[in-house]
Amino acid sequence: MIDKIIQIAKEAGSVIREGFGKNFSVEFKTNELNLVTEIDKESEKLIINFIRKNFPKHSILAEESGKLNEGSEYVWVIDPLDGTTNFAHGLPIFSVSIGVQKNNRTIAGTVYDVMRDIIYAAEINSGAFEGSEKIFISKEENLGRSLLVTGFPYNIRENPESALEKFTAFTLRARGIRRLGSAAIDFCYTAKGVFEGFWEVHLHPWDICAGKLILEEAGGKVTGFDGNPVDIFSKKILASNGLIHQQMIDVLKVN
Ligand code: IPD
Ligand code: CA
Ligand code: CA
Repeated sequence: MIDKIIQIAKEAGSVIREGFGKNFSVEFKTNELNLVTEIDKESEKLIINFIRKNFPKHSILAEESGKLNEGSEYVWVIDPLDGTTNFAHGLPIFSVSIGVQKNNRTIAGTVYDVMRDIIYAAEINSGAFEGSEKIFISKEENLGRSLLVTGFPYNIRENPESALEKFTAFTLRARGIRRLGSAAIDFCYTAKGVFEGFWEVHLHPWDICAGKLILEEAGGKVTGFDGNPVDIFSKKILASNGLIHQQMIDVLKVN
């Protein structure tokens, strides 16, 4: 199944690459921060048609179309373009993220870094890969020497404190913080040891599904801010190499 998932992620990525830097229509979703372009929709359509053709019985949960064909034990969880703001502004950091769940457990997933043409992929209990190379989390144990990544939710103007206070707290504790703009890529960069940790509030299942499996298969840990287990529907996500996890929980506790 992973080969099929990778195949369609790459096909969708080609559509996105073709559209990058060209004229495309942009609409607001919930507000002026939250964009969707015609390329997001085109990418999603391609992926859904592929699933309908190859796995007609499977269910789908896709960012722009919601739930389709409900009732199967298999659910494809799709972000057709993760990093739409970057894409719309001409910043070449965005991805296609596709995870597949069986009975609510993610069994396979891929994140395609479109402009760098890199596939991150994992199947449950089989390790995580960048192309054909196995990837592993960083061995850093000290938060003070760690590079972290985060993101901000589209509703940040409604309740800025909750996100900004944590950002401030980590800025004072970690070596550095980055904000790339694609949560799926944030998970993968944590999986391959570029970042030691990643936290974010208000993520969606399609931001989390594939990336969480890839990070866990690379040896990382994904929980809530309190250290408790999460699923793809959880709203507070803490992901790390495991070694700095408790130190990150301690920082997240302060507010
Ligand atoms: C967004 C990106 C971003 C994160 C936002 C997500 P989208 O996804 O992953 O990094 O900070 O919370 O919604 O809208 O570009 O698919
Ligand atoms: Ca997303
Ligand atoms: Ca998206």
